[in-house]
Amino acid sequence: MLEIKNLHVKLEEEDKQILKGVDLTVEAGKVHAIMGPNGSGKSTLSYVLSGREGYEVTDGSATLLGEDILDLEPEERAAAGMFLAFQYPVEIPGVGNMTFLRSAVNAQRKARGEEEMSSSDFLKEIRAKAKELQIDADMLKRPVNVGFSGGEKKRNEILQMAMLAPKLCILDETDSGLDVDAMKLVSEGVNALRSPDRGFLVITHYQRLLDHIKPDVVHIMSDGKIVKTGGPELALEVENNGYAEFQETA
Ligand SMILES: Nc1ncnc2c1ncn2[C@@H]1O[C@H](COP(=O)(O)OP(=O)(O)OP(=O)(O)O)[C@@H](O)[C@H]1O
Ligand SMILES: [Mg+2]
Repeated sequence: MLEIKNLHVKLEEEDKQILKGVDLTVEAGKVHAIMGPNGSGKSTLSYVLSGREGYEVTDGSATLLGEDILDLEPEERAAAGMFLAFQYPVEIPGVGNMTFLRSAVNAQRKARGEEEMSSSDFLKEIRAKAKELQIDADMLKRPVNVGFSGGEKKRNEILQMAMLAPKLCILDETDSGLDVDAMKLVSEGVNALRSPDRGFLVITHYQRLLDHIKPDVVHIMSDGKIVKTGGPELALEVENNGYAEFQETA
């Protein structure tokens, strides 16, 4: 589904190499987790995949369902099925949460040549999904993320993901700042979306999240590269021993 080969990325503004040859394949139906020390390039990878400005790909490739995505605009990538739940969700003053989501859903449908969702279908669906995530009606009416608590923002990201039903879901530290109950809600939201034709890339620092969202594969990223790949046991190893041994191999 997602195939990244030898991806090298530097900052546009500076001569600073951040990704130094990332190789990663996420198969449909699978959950891949990425762990790794602060500053190793995890968020950068998610930004480059989703099309954020400020980065320059100097080598390598990334395809989604066989399509080269690195030359696409962010909205084209989204229409192709790419979704990123931000580590730091952005506030959008003046734009109602529900209006924002409805525009996003319909823009993607349009880009794919599908019919727009009717207001009543949209309302029905968003209300049901918001309820599962314990997001109340008031939060749907407020401007996107403005004044939301940290945990509310993270839940709102999952609501967006549920409404957009992307092919590849990238979650960047969606667990950070969540209380125990919210972590469960968010995990349930993610697990409900697991399906044979959808892949997940879950970036996290903690084994805790992976108790709820059971990964098929765990990767360790260090200094801009994947330095080790294994099963869920790798996350436990990190929890117990830290990253020292992986950084040596890097
Ligand atoms: N715009 C920028 N200017 C300068 N340095 C940057 C910029 N963007 C990223 N970096 C650097 O790139 C490196 C990778 O950052 P990134 O945010 O990808 O790390 P991360 O693995 O997500 O870390 P964390 O676990 O703390 O979220 C860091 O050293 C960071 O300082
Ligand atoms: Mg990060």
